[in-house]
Formats: sequence, C-alpha cells, structure tokens
Amino acid sequence: MSTTKPVTNKFSALIGGPWQMTPGERVAFETLLQMVEPRLALEIGTAEGGSLARIAEHATETHSLDLVEPQSWVRDLPGVHIHTGDSHSVLKPLLDSFAADGRNIDFILIDGDHSTEGVCRDLTTVLESDAVRSTLIVLHDTMNPWVRSGIQNADPDSFEKVRTFSLDFIPGGVFGGSGEVPELWGGLGVALIGEAGDGVSLGTKYRDVHEILQNSIDSNSVQPGDGLQEQLDAIRLSKSWRWTAPLRNVKQLFAG
Ligand SMILES: C[S@@+](CC[C@H](N)C(=O)[O-])C[C@H]1O[C@@H](n2cnc3c(N)ncnc32)[C@H](O)[C@@H]1O
Repeated sequence: MSTTKPVTNKFSALIGGPWQMTPGERVAFETLLQMVEPRLALEIGTAEGGSLARIAEHATETHSLDLVEPQSWVRDLPGVHIHTGDSHSVLKPLLDSFAADGRNIDFILIDGDHSTEGVCRDLTTVLESDAVRSTLIVLHDTMNPWVRSGIQNADPDSFEKVRTFSLDFIPGGVFGGSGEVPELWGGLGVALIGEAGDGVSLGTKYRDVHEILQNSIDSNSVQPGDGLQEQLDAIRLSKSWRWTAPLRNVKQLFAG
C-alpha cells in the first residue's frame, strides 16, 4: 500500500498529494469547496485520501466511503469519519441517519463505483435522500462513457430539487500512455440542489461540444453546425487526433 502523504505547503491542492484528479479539476474542486465551506460533507471513493484531505480542510465534518480501509493518516484527518464497505449497502443507512436528525449535507463528491449501474445507484440514492436539500454535488470522471451513462440513467434533471446540472463543468480528456489503448476519463460534473442552486444556471456549452464530437466519433462523420466544422476538421488533421484513431474504432466504449 502506498504511504504517500499530501504535500502540506500552500500549493498542495494544485500539485501535491495522492489525488486522482487532474490539476485543472483540483483547482475547480478547491474553489467549489471554498465557496461552500461545508458543515457536513460526504465523499464516495476515499482511495488514498487525496480529495478527502482537501474536503477535510474546508468541512467541519466529513464522511468518506470506500470498499477498502484507508491508511491511518487518512483516518486521522480532522473531522473525518471513515465508512468501510460497499456504498450500495453503506450509503443509504448513512443518509437516512442524517435525514432522521434533520441534517443537510452541503457538499458531496461521487467518485466510487465507476460502473454504469454503480454510478446510477449512488447518484440516485443521493438524489432521493431527504438529507440532500441544499447541496453541491460533484461527480468525477464524467467524460468516461460508463460513468457518463450511469449519470444520465439516474436522470438528475427529472428531480424537482435539482436546480441546475452540468455533465461537463470541467471537461475530461483522453488518457493513456504510448502503446496503450487511449481511454476517456476525468471531467467534473456538478449538480446544484435546492437553495444552493437557486438562480444559478450552469449552461450546456461543453455538453453540446462533447455530443457533437461523440457523434462524429460514433459515425465517423462530423455533424455540421455552429461553426464547429472548421475546428473539428483542424482536430482531425492534428497529431493527437491521428494518435487517438484506435479509440474511434472501439465502438463499445460508447455503448449505452
Ligand atoms: C477513483 S478512486 C477515488 C479517488 C479519490 N476520490 C481521489 O480523487 O483522491 C475510486 C475509489 O472508489 C472505491 N470504490 C469502488 N467501488 C466502490 C463501492 N461500490 N463502494 C465504495 N467504494 C468503492 C475504490 O475502492 C476506489 O478507492
């Protein structure tokens, strides 16, 4: 097991620590935490404690779930309560206990089970909870096709209390080293619940771009529209576009 600890200087949120987020995602995540300064926060997916360390820096009380027991320094973070087990068993009773006490969860990161069904179950359980009344929900890896499908299957917009929702608040990208099959990962989605989202509109700018690119990948032909044709042509001629050619042939990546 890794014994990496977060860097403790002022740049730790950006470049240090065992996070599984890109620098741009970290900056956005940090800013969102600063804006909310949660009294009560929840994380699904502790892993090595990278994102949890940042949540704990801002929240008074944080509950973090993972299948695997974290290292001792993670358990010892201030205000942190670790719940080891399958989120599909642990999450609902925990949310029910907060709701029974009349508590509201101010900030939630969903970054645990990355299967389509698992993401859908975690997000649906969160959205159905009475402890989620005025809440910022952050979803990680929204660019990944399985995660994205799981979020879409949960259909956040169908919940009346979801004021605004964006799958591509911070767009993800293509990952994979030389010789590896490139895969789509990363990306932060955001949902604002109840009062936390009153008067806020996250827009759909990036989602539209993603869908047009995805259509072009699926059908191997670019859909004309909104001046994007030229940019997509430029992308297709670029080195990185040629490099990702195998990805465009892996149709099952985009199934569901
Ligand atoms: C991508 S990592 C989380 C990264 C972390 N949020 C960060 O950025 O530092 C996903 C974690 O979710 C956990 N996980 C996967 N399926 C789970 C489940 N059903 N219940 C709880 N945790 C799960 C994995 O063990 C893994 O540690």
